[in-house]
Amino acid sequence: MTDATTPSALPQGGNMTDQTVRAPQTVSRTPKARNEGEEAYLEVTDLHVQFPTADGKVQAVQGLSYSLPLRRTLAIVGESGSGKSVSSMAVLGLHDRKNTWISGSIKVGGREVVGMTEKELMSFRGAEAAMIFQDPQSSLHPYFTIGSQITESYRAHNNVSKRVAKKRAIEMLGRVGIPNPARRVDQYPHEFSGGMRQRAMIAMALVNDPKLLIADEPTTALDVTVQAQILDLIADLQRDFGSAVVFITHDLGVVAEIADDILVMYAGNAVEHGPVDKILGTPLHPYTWGLLESIPAVSGTPGPLHPIPGSPPSLLAMPSGCAFHPRCEFRERVGGDLCRTLKPELISRTADQGRTSRCHLKEPDKVFETEVLPRLP
Ligand SMILES: Nc1ncnc2c1ncn2[C@@H]1O[C@H](COP(=O)(O)OP(=O)(O)O)[C@@H](O)[C@H]1O
Ligand code: SF4
Ligand SMILES: [Mg+2]
Repeated sequence: MTDATTPSALPQGGNMTDQTVRAPQTVSRTPKARNEGEEAYLEVTDLHVQFPTADGKVQAVQGLSYSLPLRRTLAIVGESGSGKSVSSMAVLGLHDRKNTWISGSIKVGGREVVGMTEKELMSFRGAEAAMIFQDPQSSLHPYFTIGSQITESYRAHNNVSKRVAKKRAIEMLGRVGIPNPARRVDQYPHEFSGGMRQRAMIAMALVNDPKLLIADEPTTALDVTVQAQILDLIADLQRDFGSAVVFITHDLGVVAEIADDILVMYAGNAVEHGPVDKILGTPLHPYTWGLLESIPAVSGTPGPLHPIPGSPPSLLAMPSGCAFHPRCEFRERVGGDLCRTLKPELISRTADQGRTSRCHLKEPDKVFETEVLPRLP
């Protein structure tokens, strides 16, 4: 699994990180091939999420579509503020409905989530879908024991006694690798280390065997050894429970390790989507190229770094045409000022089936191979 010494990070908001990293293009495992006609468990269609503010509408997600079958892991990547968390929270109906406008469709196991009542959402969350956050504090209440929080979540969906639920909590804590779970179950969150709290949160998220697990940068705050263990754990649990997993990360090293598919997001839009080996092998979108170029080199052989110039656009006033055009060095290659005037569709650009990108550039695979690949770190 993950080489614990080599995390790699995408720039957050266009800035470099100073971490030592591994070349993300190398997918060391064999991603699961997607079978033609495989039924989607999660299906997001033309999702828009907007926040009305005093300055205007923040268009955080602007027409996002993707699907994910059971037993597959989708990594969502992109700079900070690209809409990864906002779109994923919408899947679980976690937005404050008074201050959020949501349109489009989100189907989980065939059920429409957009428009569910609070009561429907309560029974849907936990049982069918669960989320793990970067910060366990946001899910674990400091005043209650770890065990009582897991049993409460279990009993909300199962008509069982407290004793049976506690047995289940101990089993889950053991399952996520917490030593001595029968004793640990009665402890409070502050008695757990950061890594252990993260595991406890995963135990709570998985106590009802959700078929969809969304992990939002779950390892970012952890040291690299614990990070590697948590990734292993999520992969094991996915195998055991057969769940669909959405993994949000800015770490392309992690993507290569765990994902079957990648969705690259830029300014509230999907700009590239497809199988991990194809997209890390021959990415087709200039933004994905920029992400790869702005990552520090393989340990020991540092090369020149090319941070993406500029910063992501304001979501209050999106650029015309392609949202990436103000930062794109290839926009002059496209005739007719198209990049500035016409928003590209997310469509197939090569003979490769099952992958899409949102760019007007002709023969992007050739441009990548002849111009971008030679200068990658
Ligand atoms: N409640 C909110 N009100 C206004 N803007 C928001 C709100 N929540 C998120 N945003 C904005 O939406 C954009 C996308 O955020 P987010 O999905 O959290 O980004 P990330 O890709 O880093 O997870 C950001 O510009 C963020 O500031
Ligand atoms: S559409 Fe034009 S501006 Fe946008 S990524 Fe492609 S080449 Fe660059
Ligand atoms: Mg986020």
